[in-house]
Amino acid sequence: MLSAALVLAIGVCRAESSAQQVNIIPQPVSCVAHEGEFTVGPKTRIVLSSSDAELQRSVAVLNGMLLKAAGFSLPVVAGKAADNTIYCAINPKFAGDEAYRLTVEKKRIRIEARTPHGIFNATQTLRQLLPPQIENRQPTQGVRWSIPCVEIDDAPRFDYRGLHLDVCRHFASKEDVIRFIDLLAFHKLNRFHWHLTDDQGWRIEIKKYPELTAIGSVRTREQFGVEQDGKRERVWMTKSHSGFYTQDDVRQVLAYAADRFVTVIPEVEMPGHAKAALSAHPELSCSGGPFEVEGCWGVLEDIFCTREETFAFLEDILTEVAALFPSEYIHIGGDEAPKLRWSRCHVCQERIKSLGLKDEHELQSWFITRIEKFLSTKGKRIIGWDEILEGGLAPNATVMSWRGTEGGIAAAKQHHGAIMTPYTHMYLDYYQADPKTEPYTIGGYIPIWTVYDYNPVPQELTADQAKYILGVQGNIWTEYQLTFDNMLYMAFPRGAAVAEVGWTPLALKNYDCFQARLLDLMKRYDAMGITYNTSFLKEERKQP
Ligand code: ACM
Ligand code: ZN
Repeated sequence: MLSAALVLAIGVCRAESSAQQVNIIPQPVSCVAHEGEFTVGPKTRIVLSSSDAELQRSVAVLNGMLLKAAGFSLPVVAGKAADNTIYCAINPKFAGDEAYRLTVEKKRIRIEARTPHGIFNATQTLRQLLPPQIENRQPTQGVRWSIPCVEIDDAPRFDYRGLHLDVCRHFASKEDVIRFIDLLAFHKLNRFHWHLTDDQGWRIEIKKYPELTAIGSVRTREQFGVEQDGKRERVWMTKSHSGFYTQDDVRQVLAYAADRFVTVIPEVEMPGHAKAALSAHPELSCSGGPFEVEGCWGVLEDIFCTREETFAFLEDILTEVAALFPSEYIHIGGDEAPKLRWSRCHVCQERIKSLGLKDEHELQSWFITRIEKFLSTKGKRIIGWDEILEGGLAPNATVMSWRGTEGGIAAAKQHHGAIMTPYTHMYLDYYQADPKTEPYTIGGYIPIWTVYDYNPVPQELTADQAKYILGVQGNIWTEYQLTFDNMLYMAFPRGAAVAEVGWTPLALKNYDCFQARLLDLMKRYDAMGITYNTSFLKEERKQP
């Protein structure tokens, strides 16, 4: 016996000690396990290197979980490291906004980071190192709140690591959105893209235009798919569906997200996917309407007209949205806007002529650029789906590449930021196993290993261009996800794969190792009481 400490080299899948296995998702950059453990008890204190409010906030979530699950919370004081403390130090020399170093010894824990966000990330690692009962909502008897001795040096590969949720096709309550955001934080995902407006529902209160929610948040019927004799049939369900967030609801969600260092990016769709808005304001369409909030899924011809009134309306809305959301970015949609109505509208055609534009694509580009200019007066920048490349990219726009990777490649080559969310790898509403064994959904086939194997940096890019790939996002569209449990079933554990794609260095990625760690993570999902998919345990992985 050379040493009692089992030291594992950097890059090894799991750090293992005799006491406890170390399973963390996303896999840290470096993780070395040692013999022994630290036990958190009511006498343990959290000691901060200063009394800074942000620093206090960075430890509050873990402390709140301890109170719920263990029945005690830890005193938080400013001071120096000592035995039986979790010492959290801000070190301005430490590199990286989200990086952290976590050292767990038998007598004390030390966390070091440059920012409170880095400290928070370390607490989420501690959350995964504690017994799964830390996720319990009621005090649990007989649990030893032990953490294996470990040295972790960690930092994310990408700045932007997100999940998107479509609350238009099916609404998710404020409480459910909050649960979803906690799941993001648990996986060290730091962006929540909130898809708030679409043809099938307008889901955010706008004070100046109450009809947007009074009319636009309610639909009277919808299409649903059923499987009959091996064939997929679409049937109408004449069940009304509605729901929206008041601005107070939004503020509550934002406060919850801020405590978890998750940035919430609102999406207000334009010029397409606007039928719910047009049902309340048909005068902003090319044809004048009338319209109903849509109950079918897909791409619709009726979009916002480019008349002046549309811009006054959208600017009013964006003024309220910009005041509500602290995010620097606002997503303005831009996808799937058919040009048929514009091609037949005298107002839109007059615009094309007077602006000297070539066609309707250039008109869309002008539309988006005008909105970008307006939002820049509010200190905001835009993200749009990759169609915003057509007819020319607005000067400071960031592109969300969904129709493949080409949009992201084109954006990066033009030195614009790109977020990779190709439908081939990152559409988490697609089937994750053989459709015969799965609840009905929109189609496709993206098992968890396909998500996992994705590399957001396309080979086509030079090292300089690759810097414009800001990160990665999984999208949860909800045409066929009627309940929040069903959304969670689609989102997890594939969301864990998104997290590792966004965080872990490419050289450390290993699917088999990920799956082994996932088995531990599932115990935590169980303790949270969430619904998730397990078909990856039954279906055989085809090697890439
Ligand atoms: C999209 O899936 N239409 C962005
Ligand atoms: Zn028009």
